Amino acid sequence: MGSAAPSNRPLEVAMEGLARLEYRGYDSAGVAVVTPDGLASAKRAGKLSNLREALETAPLPAGTVAIGHTRWATHGAPTDLNAHPHLSEDGRLAVIHNGIIENFQTLKVELLDAGVSFQSETDTEVVAHLLARAYAESEDLTAAMLAVTRRLEGAYTLLAVHAAEPGTVVGARRNSPLVIGLGDGENFLGSDVAAFISHTREALEMGQDQVVTITADDVRVVDADGNPAEGRRFTVDWDANAAVKGGFGTFMEKEIHDQPKAVADTLLGRTDGQGNLVLDELRIDEAVLRSVDKIIVIACGTAAYAGHVAKYAVEHWCRIPVEVELAHEFRYRDPVVSEKTLVVAISQSGETMDTIMAVRHAREQGAKVLAVVNTHGSTIPRESDAVLYTHAGPEVAVASTKAFLAQITACYLLGLYLAQLRGNKFPDEVAGYLEELGKLPEKIQHVIDHADEVRAVAEAMKDASSVLFLGRHVGYPVALEGALKLKELAYIHAEGFAAGELKHGPIALIEEGQPVFFIVPTPRRPVLHNKVVSNIQEVRARGARTLVIAEEGDEAVNEFADVVFRVPRTPTLMMPLVTVVPLQIFACALAGAKGYDVDQPRNLAKSVTVE
Ligand code: AGP
Repeated sequence: MGSAAPSNRPLEVAMEGLARLEYRGYDSAGVAVVTPDGLASAKRAGKLSNLREALETAPLPAGTVAIGHTRWATHGAPTDLNAHPHLSEDGRLAVIHNGIIENFQTLKVELLDAGVSFQSETDTEVVAHLLARAYAESEDLTAAMLAVTRRLEGAYTLLAVHAAEPGTVVGARRNSPLVIGLGDGENFLGSDVAAFISHTREALEMGQDQVVTITADDVRVVDADGNPAEGRRFTVDWDANAAVKGGFGTFMEKEIHDQPKAVADTLLGRTDGQGNLVLDELRIDEAVLRSVDKIIVIACGTAAYAGHVAKYAVEHWCRIPVEVELAHEFRYRDPVVSEKTLVVAISQSGETMDTIMAVRHAREQGAKVLAVVNTHGSTIPRESDAVLYTHAGPEVAVASTKAFLAQITACYLLGLYLAQLRGNKFPDEVAGYLEELGKLPEKIQHVIDHADEVRAVAEAMKDASSVLFLGRHVGYPVALEGALKLKELAYIHAEGFAAGELKHGPIALIEEGQPVFFIVPTPRRPVLHNKVVSNIQEVRARGARTLVIAEEGDEAVNEFADVVFRVPRTPTLMMPLVTVVPLQIFACALAGAKGYDVDQPRNLAKSVTVE
């Protein structure tokens, strides 16, 4: 945001933009203003109202440019100090950041060796100090941004201001959104058009690795080499409310589309300079982890199904028995737990009371607890011995989607970390699995981009009264999750079964026209694949309508499938990351066809903070 003469408008616009993005979830907020006398800033943990109160108590001076940020913590808990903006040591430069700087530890060591003192635990503050050092050489903020972004690895949207350039804001992006708002006598930058849509609908999209410099009456975009570049001009035709959801009609649709990024971000920055996996917060001695002889996953709902998927991978990679227990059952059991038991608590919110109580129960029994959580600063990480954060970003819709994929991804990382630590897998084997995982965001995107038929079938089935979901091996927890999505979104009776269980009772449910989903393993695992194809044949012979999720090229299912939804070729253990996506889209589309509120389904809360 830039304006010719000092006024309160830049700050007002920045605060309004933050308010408009408030829906998306965050855990701290801050602003910086450049005034003729220098740079001023304020930031607070918690909700925007905390920042507003701070500004009412100690107003910032009128300025010519302002930047604002709401943070969803990735590195460092949500505190005033970790909130953005982050300042240079001389307080004349401020920077705000969305994303993850994957190599920030290496850069931080370089800065510490150079005598720089840090105020926060964040990766962003590293950028503030790098920019200040680059600015001292170039005395040009655009040149400083170009110099610094060449050294960064990972994903970022950056905005920076400097007291020496009172009319300028410089932005940069890589694998993270940044759009330019073109105003009359003022210009805007935002991670989403929602931030400035009430001021202008004329926007400019930025390309990868581009850097933009805005003033009140000028916008200049350059590529990574500093050569002039053209952003794609467009007019925003969304209304302000839709813009908050990234142009999607619901947060759930937005979050389904966020999944490739959620998986990619959860994978980012997980290895040290030597290619070894590292966890976010490890307060368990590695020797203890080496001695673990049992893992018990505790979680609820969708998070528990992520644990079910993890079980297959961790047992295969680590040769440790893995039990998956619903948290509310675990805590009333008399579980066999010792100091050699590692309890893994999976939770998007980190506030699920059933899981919190199960964590406490496990620790009372002497177990070590490792949390896989999406929300920094929440209760479960605080009460655990180690933490592996998912980086799904705020999940607003009650029905969990991107957090589920991020939880599975984090559990794969945990399994590979333990396998590497305990010597079950060599670093090159771990690297191979990480390479395969690195391909999953693109595969998930492919499924999302080819989902028209899923939506059409869902809309045609909006009057279904019951749907069954069957899967085998890692497809079994996917069946459970598919059923849960349909239950909680469309209020339809749905049940997930292990496909092998069919003949032990559930096949009695099959009658003419009964819709049955099958999650089919890859044909490259015939011992699983052929059994599931037989199961499809069994229910089809009894009149069921078979809806099959199968790998591209798997022709064996065609004969018995009424509908086939294809997913890209994927290693067996990683298939849930692609096979669950059609089921999410199916449930969302069917509920939408029934006119239901998919973001806030009846009777449900986003976080069950009561027992
Ligand atoms: C999933 O769609 C549901 N909203 C619910 O099952 C949820 O996964 C469960 O309540 C656990 O929540 P948590 O991950 O925040 O602990």
